[in-house]
Amino acid sequence: MTLLAEALAQIQREIDGKFDALLPLPADPRSRLVEAMRYAAIGGGKRLRPLLVAATAEMFRVDRDAALRAGAAVEAIHVYSLIHDDLPCMDDDDLRHGKPTLHRQFDEATAVLAGDALHDLAFEILSDPATSGDPFTRIELVRTLSTASGAQGMAGGQMMDMVAEGESFDLPTVTRLQQLKTGALLGASVEMGAILGKIAPEGRTHLRGYARDIGLAFQIADDLLDHEGDEAAAGKALRKDAVAGKETFVSLLGPERARAQASALVDQAIAHLAQHGKEADLLRDVARYIVERKH
Ligand code: IPE
Ligand code: IPE
Ligand code: MG
Ligand code: MG
Ligand code: MG
Repeated sequence: MTLLAEALAQIQREIDGKFDALLPLPADPRSRLVEAMRYAAIGGGKRLRPLLVAATAEMFRVDRDAALRAGAAVEAIHVYSLIHDDLPCMDDDDLRHGKPTLHRQFDEATAVLAGDALHDLAFEILSDPATSGDPFTRIELVRTLSTASGAQGMAGGQMMDMVAEGESFDLPTVTRLQQLKTGALLGASVEMGAILGKIAPEGRTHLRGYARDIGLAFQIADDLLDHEGDEAAAGKALRKDAVAGKETFVSLLGPERARAQASALVDQAIAHLAQHGKEADLLRDVARYIVERKH
């Protein structure tokens, strides 16, 4: 197996294990909520965000369990965002990770609550001394993830995405939308690995550059998959952007230029890592994988 394939398989196992341990079923009527959280959080996702946390943390010799806890926190936010994104009031999707979406399997109220509770779980994990014995580190992690999740990050991007259905955004606006919708959480993942490594903000500038470039490349790849990907491989409905009348990188640039742009962004992301040696190879591989993936 390649370095990346091994790292992906390992992180998928580890994050499943973390969620399994973090979400024991209570022996009372709340069990429905926790069952729903487990249904969405365990199995299925690529775990790219935890992989970014772990790969960055490893460069700075951070304890693996601390990195996994931070990875589980950002993944909890990601899973919550997908549960709500699939609801009838948003994208109205029936399939996620090749199985019925949460509101289809359970019901809408349960899906809203499972999303809420996963959001809260993220900050419960980060504020726990088991993640870091240093309260300053814990606060920095909480601040980084909360900023990337809210109106200045993912939720703000999701709002722009909803507004996009009724308007024709230009390329700078679509770029901003995507940076918030997906780039913010990917960026926070890299940042959290460096925070655990006690790297001061000045020392993280190049990592931020790397994260910004892969964030945009990731979203161009998602748009290309939506445009021309295979639904069975994706495990979710595709061709939704065009039907919803949303401008994307693909609709604005055409697939060929979008592909070229994504690959230029990957080169640029890798160039940001020039000061690192072999210890950054996994981050380099992740950058390439982001545009080559089929799901
Ligand atoms: C899909 O993200 C949704 C977007 C943010 C575009 P991923 O492709 O990382 O989702 P999973 O968790 O691996 O399915
Ligand atoms: C979802 O974007 C992004 C977030 C949940 C933040 P999309 O709506 O494009 O994702 P898919 O295509 O449903 O996975
Ligand atoms: Mg959406
Ligand atoms: Mg969607
Ligand atoms: Mg999409």
